[in-house]
Amino acid sequence: MYRTNTCGELNLTNLNEKIVLSGWVHKIRKMGGMTFIDLRDRYGITQLSFNQEVNSELYAQANKLGREWVVSVEGVVKERSNKNMDLPTGEIEIIASKINVLNESKTPPFTIETKTDGGDDLRMKYRYLDLRRSVVRKNLELRHKMTIETRSYLDNLNFLEVETPVLIGSTPEGARDFVVPSRMNKGEFYALPQSPQLFKQLLMVSGFDRYFQIVKCFRDEDLRADRQPEFTQIDCEMSFVEQEDVLNTFEGLTKHLFKSLKGIDVPDFPRISYADAMKYYGSDKPDIRFEMKLVEIKDLTTDRNFMVFDSVPYVGAICVEGAAVYTRRQLDDLTKFVKRPQVGAKGLIYLRYNEDGSLKSSVDKFYSEADLRKWAERCNAKPGDLILVMGGETEETQEQLSDLRLEMASQLGLKDKNDYKCLWVVDFPLLEKDEELDRYFAKHHPFTSPKPEDIHLLDSDPAAVRANAYDLVINGVEVGGGSIRMHDSELQNNVLSVLGFSQERAQEQFGFLMDAFQYGAPPHGGIAFGLDRLVSLFAGLDSIRDCIAFPKNTSGRDVMIDAPSRIEPEQLEELGLSLNKLKK
Ligand code: AMO
Repeated sequence: MYRTNTCGELNLTNLNEKIVLSGWVHKIRKMGGMTFIDLRDRYGITQLSFNQEVNSELYAQANKLGREWVVSVEGVVKERSNKNMDLPTGEIEIIASKINVLNESKTPPFTIETKTDGGDDLRMKYRYLDLRRSVVRKNLELRHKMTIETRSYLDNLNFLEVETPVLIGSTPEGARDFVVPSRMNKGEFYALPQSPQLFKQLLMVSGFDRYFQIVKCFRDEDLRADRQPEFTQIDCEMSFVEQEDVLNTFEGLTKHLFKSLKGIDVPDFPRISYADAMKYYGSDKPDIRFEMKLVEIKDLTTDRNFMVFDSVPYVGAICVEGAAVYTRRQLDDLTKFVKRPQVGAKGLIYLRYNEDGSLKSSVDKFYSEADLRKWAERCNAKPGDLILVMGGETEETQEQLSDLRLEMASQLGLKDKNDYKCLWVVDFPLLEKDEELDRYFAKHHPFTSPKPEDIHLLDSDPAAVRANAYDLVINGVEVGGGSIRMHDSELQNNVLSVLGFSQERAQEQFGFLMDAFQYGAPPHGGIAFGLDRLVSLFAGLDSIRDCIAFPKNTSGRDVMIDAPSRIEPEQLEELGLSLNKLKK
């Protein structure tokens, strides 16, 4: 028998029981005549004790074990004299009577501890060892629980989980596709789904009414802390619903997850329009754990010969509470921060509202004290606050102020990971203009329905058309996004033509959807949550990589299995991809 118990469960109630445990040798402590071994498995750690005087042979055997060897141990549960109250098993130890070595181990390249000495690259190369660390395993346990709770919540609401195909044609979600060559149809390619968008809409035409799927999606885009090339969505679609129904259902799911996994009752989610999110936070995913809203002060800055502000359409400020004490050096660093290419601002103006009530700004030459007092008043500043000001093109400057706002919140410790602030951002614009290409793109995707009251603007003022589209944002992270869809093929055609699709291309790419819409498509809408992002928020992680068992690095590589990799010329030939043929 390998084990009677796990390494995480024995305690004083098991005193004097004869047990067998199996696991990995976590730590060995040799203390002159006594050797203690921490035996570890998925469930915890149990201390084994070997006494030279009691059993010298076994003691010698224990001393020969190495870190991460796999052993099975027989013994008796005894109360420990030196208790460790941090461990559930910390009041007992096993007086071992037999050790069975099940497998030896090379010395691992890093320590299997919460605070390991292994760097990122090394841990990714040996991810199977990294996964032995309880901090990493706990994230995957949380992920498992989240999927179980999600399935049970949605099942209770009559949602059906349906699998959609992975080898499909391109889905237009805005990123690049990963493609897979077809051997049987040489020269042709499948694409991996960026999401099951089209299939879930077809399921609504089929009358499935409520669909969900916990599903892998693939997007060939530049990677960041919250992006992986393959990631998982909690993907849903509902029929005979309006935006309100979708929001309520998925607000319900989110609250249920907070309650069941973290024991937190989150209040009803506030809603904010996209336009207000940009105006007050400079971002369509505002972090509302802290205030520091953007304040427009353009009208208070003009006609004072300060060309920088006179020449731009927008001047905005944030008021940073208690930061008037920032030194010149700190302010210079903030200027450097906003000038980084990632932020892209030209400069930063400051106004200190000192504790004694006096004002000091970097533009005292241009503005009188009375002028600056008006700035402070508009920003609701108090003595001790610091006002930071930037000017430029409206949306661009709002986004730069947003970056600055988030940076100030980090510097001042306002981003409490255990404080969860959820909100819905609604009324997104339907379209986004690419000025360089001089054409419109769908802000969400081409199946999102315009608001009925804005449809008449589609031809005359496309940029002003708002969509029935919404995002769920938690602590500044876009956790989910969705929309009410068009179910009318004429409107769908109209939107596709505004997006620059010719009749033929629309037919070629989405013909099957248009056809389906002619066979009684119900009104429908849905949403998809990013599971990886939700788990990492719940776990307080900085990157979604830490809640994915085998993630890719920032270059999209799996360094453990060394993928992607070259394939043999024969394989290329078989796929109709041989270099000679491609050259022709
Ligand atoms: P969207 O493109 O907004 O919508 O994606 C939904 C959610 O998926 C997550 N997400 C990602 N997570 C990790 N890595 C990525 N590369 C990545 N890309 C997206 C985000 C995002 O909010 N079909 C629509 C949904 C719908 O309309 O119903 C869709 O995919 O959390």
